[in-house]
Amino acid sequence: MNTVVSGIRSTGNLHLGNYFGAIKNFIEMQKSNNCFFFIADWHSLTTHPTPGDLHINVRRVLAEYLACGIDPEQATIYVQSDVPEIAELYLLMNMNAYLGELERTTSFKDKARKSPDNVNAGLLTYPVLMAADIIIHRAQQVPVGKDQEQNLEMARKFARRFNTMYKSELFPIPKPFSFTGEFVKVPGLDGSGKMGKSEGNAICLIDDEKLIRKKVMKAVTDSGPTEMNQTKPEAIENLFTLMDIVSEKDTYDFFNDKYNSCEIRYGDMKKQLAEDIVKFTSPIREKIIDISSNDEYLRKVTAEGRDKARASASETLKEVRKLIGFKSF
Ligand code: ADP
Ligand code: TRP
Repeated sequence: MNTVVSGIRSTGNLHLGNYFGAIKNFIEMQKSNNCFFFIADWHSLTTHPTPGDLHINVRRVLAEYLACGIDPEQATIYVQSDVPEIAELYLLMNMNAYLGELERTTSFKDKARKSPDNVNAGLLTYPVLMAADIIIHRAQQVPVGKDQEQNLEMARKFARRFNTMYKSELFPIPKPFSFTGEFVKVPGLDGSGKMGKSEGNAICLIDDEKLIRKKVMKAVTDSGPTEMNQTKPEAIENLFTLMDIVSEKDTYDFFNDKYNSCEIRYGDMKKQLAEDIVKFTSPIREKIIDISSNDEYLRKVTAEGRDKARASASETLKEVRKLIGFKSF
């Protein structure tokens, strides 16, 4: 049985990218592994949510996790800030993380470029906190989407460095994991590469039918193919990729054949795609609404998750302190 850790930042509603990049794997993995799935509320502080929003955001992701089928009977579900052991490990790991390597990560450079007024140290050391999240439970596997590859590579580096420095094998070297063997990147429908909260192009699990139809119908297309079997431009390829993810194979093949024979009508394709997304998200949406109002259940899940996560985390931390040389008098 492997130990598995993954988290999602509490910065907005979960979208199809989060689902197909991460959560789908969580649901599969929880059946036969020791899984820890958490809500990364410390990570969300890099963008300074207001005190009022912070809790609402955490609560929202929690309800969405549960509605998707992450099962507290099978996996440990917790809120990152409920486990102070992670913060201590983060502090310790920071001593062996170097400015140069942190500055070179693409996610840091991207964020620094997008928000030059808010290049805080939390942003810089984001990969260190992420590494602490993972190695605190001595995880072997981390289900994440393709965009997290580099952060995970940093976590592997920090784990290896600690082991070497203290001549130990305390930390397994965590591997990214995907059931299909491929790391999914769910595209946006605005002609850009990735669906994401910060990209403002996300179709969220909580979106109602009307909104989903509106978002899909607005998807960027072109004037249509002019030659048989021609290569698809990026925006069109994205539409097909999304259809490949949410629709039946026959549906995908039907529209793909139409494209190849230059008979495609994008309007029909989008209508079908919107219906297929609605079919997929509607039951989840109902559950989100239902679970969100169940305070007692949310309290119980997070209290049990916190206790289990802390028990696991404090065992690791005890070993870490010993290796570093902390001793009690
Ligand atoms: P966002 O990009 O919307 O801010 P997060 O960074 O919180 O989302 O991502 C949470 C998880 O969802 C990560 O494992 C990430 O890899 C995955 N993920 C997010 N967007 C996508 C996407 N478009 N395709 C695949 N996986 C994604
Ligand atoms: N960095 C991840 C994201 O933006 C969220 C995250 C934080 C995470 N800690 C993690 C994912 C640990 C996997 C494991 O989506």
